[in-house]
Amino acid sequence: MYFDTHAHYDDRAFDADREALLERLHREAGLELLLDPGCDLASSRAALALAERFPFVYAAVGIHPEELSSCAPESLTELRDLAAHPKCVAIGEIGLDYYWDAAHKEEQKALFRRQIELALELGKPIIVHDREAHGDCLDTVRDYPELRGVFHCFSGSPEMAEELLKRGWYLGFDGPVTYKNARRAPEVLALCPLERILLETDSPYLSPVPLRGKRNDSGNLSYIAEKVAQIKGLSPEALAAAALENGRRLFGV
Ligand code: NI
Repeated sequence: MYFDTHAHYDDRAFDADREALLERLHREAGLELLLDPGCDLASSRAALALAERFPFVYAAVGIHPEELSSCAPESLTELRDLAAHPKCVAIGEIGLDYYWDAAHKEEQKALFRRQIELALELGKPIIVHDREAHGDCLDTVRDYPELRGVFHCFSGSPEMAEELLKRGWYLGFDGPVTYKNARRAPEVLALCPLERILLETDSPYLSPVPLRGKRNDSGNLSYIAEKVAQIKGLSPEALAAAALENGRRLFGV
């Protein structure tokens, strides 16, 4: 019943129990589909390897803004090769992160645009990482009216959400919607149509309440679904089913 559209099972936090955990989540925790986005070439390859191993796992390939320094001129050529894999359903996780590194904004923007152009060329959606870079992320995607995808763990304003929704984008909601001090997420959820909501864990990061600080996994998607469902006035089951359909539609799985 759940589609976790953003979880990093290639992360070393899962080295000890990755395969057993995925099998258990799929068999016992209602994890019907999973999308593992890459953050650099090595993690994109690892995400594809998991997708080859497990029929319910899909991958995205991309170079995260935090990995800018590891990106060589030939990296984009290799990324294009990886993106040809039949289980690669998106380009991501890509975007801008001015919290991590505000000194290389122009380089981040250039890498973001090159990967957007690759996605458009291949006809794939993108998975956007936007941390403290709302204005520049919005300006960038505005330049590509035919581009589609999801703003992962959306943290922008209701006005930004409205503009993205008008342009056909999806918004991803993660553990932070369960935090006591979450103010924007409920406002954004209130205006976000049900058919544009995706549920994500960002595992192993961003564990929801009551598990903050612990390693996250897709079994915790239920806490996020419960909170989002409460805001939307739906049952958690109906919300999760809608989000699963949304993920299928966006990523074509
Ligand atoms: Ni992520």
